[in-house]
Parts: sequence; C-alpha cells; structure tokens
Amino acid sequence: MKYLRKEWRRIKQLVALFVGGTMFMVFSCQAINPPFVIQHLGEGQSIIRIEEQKKFLLLPVEEASPEVRLRMIVDNGVVCEMNVRLAINKVDYFVPVDLSGFDGKSLSFSIQSIPDTAVCWNEMKLSDSFDAGNREEFRPLYHFTPQYGWMNDPNGMVYKDGVYHLFYQYNPYGSVWGNMHWGHATSADLVSWEHQPVAIAPDALGTIFSGSCVVDEDNTAGFGAGAIIAFYTSASDRQVQSMAYSLDNGKTFRKYARNPILTSTQRDFRDPKVFRHEATGKWIMVLAVGQEMQFYSSANLKDWTYESSFGEGQGAHGGVWECPDLVELPVEGTELKKWVLICNINPGGPSGGSATQYFVGTFDGKTFVNESPQTTKWMDWGKDHYATVTWSNAPEGRHIALAWMSNWQYANNVPTMQYRSGNSVPRDLSLYVSDGEVYLKSSPSRELLTLRGKAEKKRSFKVDRAYNIDKLLAGNTGTYEMEMTIRNRNAEVIGFQLFNSKGEKVDIYYNLVEKRLAMDRTKSGIVSFSPDFPAVTFAPVEGNTEMRLRIFVDKSGIEIFGDDGRVAMTNLVFPSEAYNRISFYAKGGSYAVSDFEVYRLR
Ligand code: FRU
Repeated sequence: MKYLRKEWRRIKQLVALFVGGTMFMVFSCQAINPPFVIQHLGEGQSIIRIEEQKKFLLLPVEEASPEVRLRMIVDNGVVCEMNVRLAINKVDYFVPVDLSGFDGKSLSFSIQSIPDTAVCWNEMKLSDSFDAGNREEFRPLYHFTPQYGWMNDPNGMVYKDGVYHLFYQYNPYGSVWGNMHWGHATSADLVSWEHQPVAIAPDALGTIFSGSCVVDEDNTAGFGAGAIIAFYTSASDRQVQSMAYSLDNGKTFRKYARNPILTSTQRDFRDPKVFRHEATGKWIMVLAVGQEMQFYSSANLKDWTYESSFGEGQGAHGGVWECPDLVELPVEGTELKKWVLICNINPGGPSGGSATQYFVGTFDGKTFVNESPQTTKWMDWGKDHYATVTWSNAPEGRHIALAWMSNWQYANNVPTMQYRSGNSVPRDLSLYVSDGEVYLKSSPSRELLTLRGKAEKKRSFKVDRAYNIDKLLAGNTGTYEMEMTIRNRNAEVIGFQLFNSKGEKVDIYYNLVEKRLAMDRTKSGIVSFSPDFPAVTFAPVEGNTEMRLRIFVDKSGIEIFGDDGRVAMTNLVFPSEAYNRISFYAKGGSYAVSDFEVYRLR
C-alpha cells in the first residue's frame, strides 16, 4: 500500500515536470482520435495538427456559441480561413472541412478564442466521409435546398448547353449566415437538382456576395468563346466587384487576376447583374448601391463606365436596395415589350422585412425610366420571397425567376439545423395590363407539371356557409399541389383553412369587399422562434367573379398563385404534421368550387 502511494506520488511529480517543462500544454487526443493532436497555447489559442491523411475534418458546431476564426495552414502558409461556431457546451451538428488535395503536406489549423474546456475538443474527428443525409422534417422535397449548411440568395443563374446552373449564397461551415461562398447545383429541368462542389470561395479580397453570370459567346472578355463569366461582390471592409470565369461549363471557376474590376466609396455597393443589351451591343451591369440602382456599361466585361442611377423618389425605400435585375418582357395581348427593373429591398416589404419590388418602363442602354413613378409594385405579397433574380441566357426567350424563400427578419432562426433555407419554385415572368397599369405576372414554370403524380379529383361543390374535405390526399407527406376554380355568386369572403389533426392551420381567403387575398399563418405550427413570424399577409386582387388558384405546398412552404400568377404569395410554415384537411367557408353569400384537384408532387 505504502509502495503504491509512493509510486503514485512519483507519477504525479513526473507529470508535473513534463507539463511544466513544455512551452504549452499538449493535450493528445490519441486515445480518442489518433490521427490528430490538439495543442492549447493559453488564452484560448489552440493548434490542431493533422497527423494522418483523411478527407475531412469534422467540426462540431453549437449554434448558440460565438463565431471563432479558424485558419487552415498548409506547410506554414494559410490556405483558407473561416468562422465557425465551435461547440462549447453541446454539439448541434457537424460541418466538414475538406482536407483533400494536400497529400504529403503538413496540415494544421489555428483557432482563436475557444476555452480548453469546450466540448469541441473531444468531439472533432477526422473521417473519409461526411453524412449529409436528410433528417430534417421541414426540408422541402421539390424546392432546392443546400445539402447542408446555410443558403440565402440565388446567384449567377445561367443556362448553357441544356443545363440550368444555380449558384447560391452559401455557408458550408454552419447553418447561419457567414463565410459567403457560391454554392452550385445543376439541373436539366429546373425541378430536380444535382449538388455540385462549391464554385467560388472567399479570398484575400473578401467573402463572395451575390452576383450573376453571362455566357460570353463572342469572347468579348478574351477568356475564350463561350466562357461562363461570373460577376460577384468581394465583401470585406468595403464592397467591390470582381469577376471569375469558367472554361469547363461552370464546373470550375478561375478568378480574374486583376480583381476588383469596379470600386466605390459607398458602403453598400453590391450584387452585380450583368446582361447583354442587344440594341447598343454593350454589356450592362446593374448594381445595388444604398437605396438606388446604378447602371454601368462595358464592351469587354472588364472596364466599366458609369451611365446613370435610378431610385430617388421611386418605389419603396424602407430599407437598402439589393440584388437587382433588368429584363425586357412582352406585354400580354399586345406587341409591346417593356423593361422591368427588379429591386429587392430589405427591410421595407409590404408585410415587413424583405421583399421584391419592381418598376416597369424603358431602358436605352444608359437610363431606366419608370413609367408609373406614383405606384409601388410588388412581385410577391408573402413574407418569404426575396433576392429574386432571373436566369441568363434561358432558352426560348424565357425569363425564369427564382427567389430565396425566407426573410432576413428571422432567416437565421427558422426551426431547421442541418440545413437552413430553400428557394421558391421557378416562375416564368411576363407582363399584363390591369386598369391601364402594367404588372408583372409570375407563373409557375411549366416544368413543375412533371412533378405531378396521379390527380385526386374532388367533386365540385357549392359553399353557402361551410364545406369540409377530411382527406386531401391519401398518405399525405406534405408535398402537394392543389388546383381549383372558384366562381363567386355573391360572397363577400371566400376562404378555406388548411389544417392538420393538431389543430395547426393556415387560413387563406379573398375579401372581395376589400379586394384582397390574405394568408394567415399565425396558428400554422411552430411560430414562436421570432415575433415577426406569426403574420397575416395581404395582396390586392382584381375581385373577378372567377378565380383560378394553384397552391404549392412543400413541407415548410406555401406558394399561392392566383390567375396564373397575376397574384403570388409565398410564406413559410412549420406544421408538426402535414395539413391534410381543408375546410371552405363563405361570408355574406355563396360561391362554387370546381376542377378541384390535388396532386402529390415527387
Ligand atoms: C441579400 C444580400 C445581398 C448580399 C448577400 C450577402 O440577401 O444581403 O445584398 O450580396 O445577401 O449574403
């Protein structure tokens, strides 16, 4: 016994000697994670040395933790930096850092401001695989979402050689905004997407904010005929415009060596949309600058000349203007075409927070003139339709728009973790005239029809007071489309509630006295994550006797299209079970519902 105690004291002395004799405390993870060593250097500074070649370092993330800076070091040089919410108290999920491509090199990470006691030190691992499996109940099925991590604006959408490219604002190192990269996905049909590797990663000029792509058929930039050229904002202390080009149809991008190509003293100077203006034979760049849009022109995509600004005294100004687009669209029923300036604004939307407004008018390659400066026009009247832009180079002269289905008021707090946020369905844009005023129509793109399973046709019925359908769809998993025609007789309110067995519901109604369509999600399911989420959104309607509705439901989103997109309303919802019942009601009179069909969407 005495001998043992003596031995124990000797071991303790040895350990103390060893610890004291080293410059820093070496905490070897050998027992748990043999292939790396973690060294704590005091005051929250640490180094992770990778001792064995594996594909990923899996970092444990806790969303409530503060962001800390990680530097990835290869042979003493920093190859990339990222901010990660490393887990201090508990692990919410893991994010992978790709270690491939550094065979035979010395690989380490330096990390600042994480206590030695944080749980991340025991939880991080090296692995040859990362499980990006979908375990989120709210993840939409037929709307695009990132495989994991955070997504906001759609970026650089371009069509080339039968492929629709979708790039997007992406944080691969967490499910909240940060570390902006351009993520990438491709599709042949706009509805089924294939994930591709990250296209553009941050560099010394900054993180990679929103922008656009063009196909340079005539090699005006000199990178090669048919190059896909990306324009984006490099964001650091200042926002400047940069370009990158792809000579392999969007698979990989090389950054232009002389970036940035356009600078300013303005703080909010971003989101370049570039397109070819056929009438003048020039390239045009539209930029969001504070609360205005600026137009620049160029012959070679590299040197840009300021042309004009648009915005003062026009439309809504409740917040900063972002993500512009400028497209020329046909006016239905006429031979006319008009220019539409898409202008995303945050905050200041019609129901609070982010939204997409637009202006209709003329553009001569230099100046945009709004033909009705007195009216503010909104493209979608829901709360979750933002950063809308269109595909460049789309076939058949189509102008296909896509929005981010969220709102900056609560985007970082919606109840998902492993990924956060999806896009809207694609919408074909055109113009129509109502009461002498020209408006944008957003019709669900025809490719959405290919998602339909067999129709569940409902009997036509009349609603005097109420009419209930107890089962919308057999085995309803929350991904469906409803289509119906409503003929009003003399009702003042035409409405229906979509609900589930938990009593969670969404109330959708036309108030024909007030001439508006409304969607009430105040009792739609989980709503408490933000005071701005429980809301009723309203859209003005013409109040015709016949109304045709298409409603897309996809787990956590509802998009309503009235009369082929003359009115559009997009709202997130988080029900704990699919809404599989519908209850129609009438006030002040009656109406009839016919051609009511429900489709499961794959
Ligand atoms: C719009 C926006 C853009 C910016 C990007 C950054 O949602 O703020 O203006 O480029 O997000 O992620």
